[in-house]
Amino acid sequence: MSLNDRDALAVLHAALDPDDNNGLIGRFYTRWFTFDASPRDLFPPDMGVQRAAFAQALKWIYGELVAQRAEDPVAFLAQLGRDHRKYGVLPEHYETLGRSLYATLRDELAEAWTDAVDAAALQSVNLITGVMSGAADAEQGPAWWDGTVVEHLRVSRDLAVVRLQLDRPMPYHAGQYVNVAVPQCPRRWRYLTPAIPPDETGAIEFHVRTVAGGLVSNAIVNETQTGDRWRLSSPHGALQVDRDGGDVLMVAHMNAQALAKTIATGEAWYFSRSRRALWKKGETSGHVQRVVEMRVDCDQDAVWIKVEQAGPGACHTGRRSCFYRAVPLDPGAEAAVTLEPEGQGFRISKSALTLRAQVPNLDEAAFARMAGEAEKNCPVSKVLNAAITLDAKLI
Ligand SMILES: Cc1cc2nc3c(=O)[nH]c(=O)nc-3n(C[C@H](O)[C@H](O)[C@H](O)COP(=O)(O)OP(=O)(O)OC[C@H]3O[C@@H](n4cnc5c(N)ncnc54)[C@H](O)[C@@H]3O)c2cc1C
Ligand code: HEM
Repeated sequence: MSLNDRDALAVLHAALDPDDNNGLIGRFYTRWFTFDASPRDLFPPDMGVQRAAFAQALKWIYGELVAQRAEDPVAFLAQLGRDHRKYGVLPEHYETLGRSLYATLRDELAEAWTDAVDAAALQSVNLITGVMSGAADAEQGPAWWDGTVVEHLRVSRDLAVVRLQLDRPMPYHAGQYVNVAVPQCPRRWRYLTPAIPPDETGAIEFHVRTVAGGLVSNAIVNETQTGDRWRLSSPHGALQVDRDGGDVLMVAHMNAQALAKTIATGEAWYFSRSRRALWKKGETSGHVQRVVEMRVDCDQDAVWIKVEQAGPGACHTGRRSCFYRAVPLDPGAEAAVTLEPEGQGFRISKSALTLRAQVPNLDEAAFARMAGEAEKNCPVSKVLNAAITLDAKLI
């Protein structure tokens, strides 16, 4: 039975609580580092984030095993194992981790520890450590890429452009990101998305913005020096292919420069009219869009791009598409749209006028003001895709 025993696996799954930072997982790490001190130095001093990441990973893996779905966890563990090589993880660490995890589960579950749970714990722990160490072992490629900072440009108070020359070229697909460790913050790895992907000589560029109170982002922006040596993981990140789906993901503005950068880099760049700034989709979130196809309309004032969207989606709410709310077309339906004032007017585009007929009880004066503002603010709606650009809030 064991790995087929859903009831026994469910007992292990229930014992894991990713929100309980000082519970079972905390006690597991204490036990592990007492049993084997050597992996402790691979981790940063504060283990809080790590405890949460490890607990979440285990919770998800056990959830999948309970549902008798092994394919995704095995693929995840194999990738994690290959990727863990960059931390300097050794085969014997998997051995001591496995024994400590098994012993912690046994102690924590005391009363519920039956023969069936014992067998499920043993086999699942072996599966986790076995897949990770096996995949790490089998991987022929480099465990990490080292590179030298050749330029550090502080372009504004909170933003730096960092250019590196990697010691060797890095294979990279659009939309991928890397895990980075910098000398100012050893062992504190952070994800960064290359703003300019590595070329065939290994030249690569990152744009890093400080996060309030952020350790690594502030160190990179304020303290990076030419000559610093950075360590990069192999690039990863799954691309979600939307080119088959055909859904509208988002609508945004492009100016000539954004269009040129999109064509040159193969990744989507836009222009923010409110901030008067060029922005690359996914620059900080990692949710980059790789351009698959690009078209312009008949009078060449609208661009349509088909993308492979990295991460969960295009919308800042975490959804796949920004168009996740439906407007009811039944005139008798309860009002589904309100138009939110902003400053002296309303932020809404001309094309939203088409909604007028669909908004019950719309205040005429407010609507007229809004329409006037829309004309002033964006006389020509140069948007991606001929869909509605609606800045009014839907409720
Ligand atoms: C896939 C991916 C790609 C990324 N690419 C880039 C990139 O190209 N350039 C870049 O500058 N950053 C990027 N980031 C964010 C980066 O990895 C770090 O999270 C960020 O630099 C903050 O790290 P820190 O050590 O300064 O903050 P920490 O010390 O880790 O955190 C300090 C505080 O800030 C909060 N915080 C952490 N990250 C963020 C965030 N992104 N936004 C708001 N609050 C946050 C934390 O919850 C905490 O409260 C990316 C993140 C991901 C997941
Ligand atoms: C064999 C011994 C292992 C060692 C020495 C080890 C070490 C590390 C280190 C040093 C980090 C980075 C911590 C940080 O940046 O704050 C890390 C991250 C992580 N580990 Fe492990 N780990 C081991 C096994 C495992 C196992 C078995 C799992 C789970 C199934 C796991 C899951 C994770 C996850 C999810 C992260 C965060 C994501 C990442 O940064 O890769 N690790 N590990």
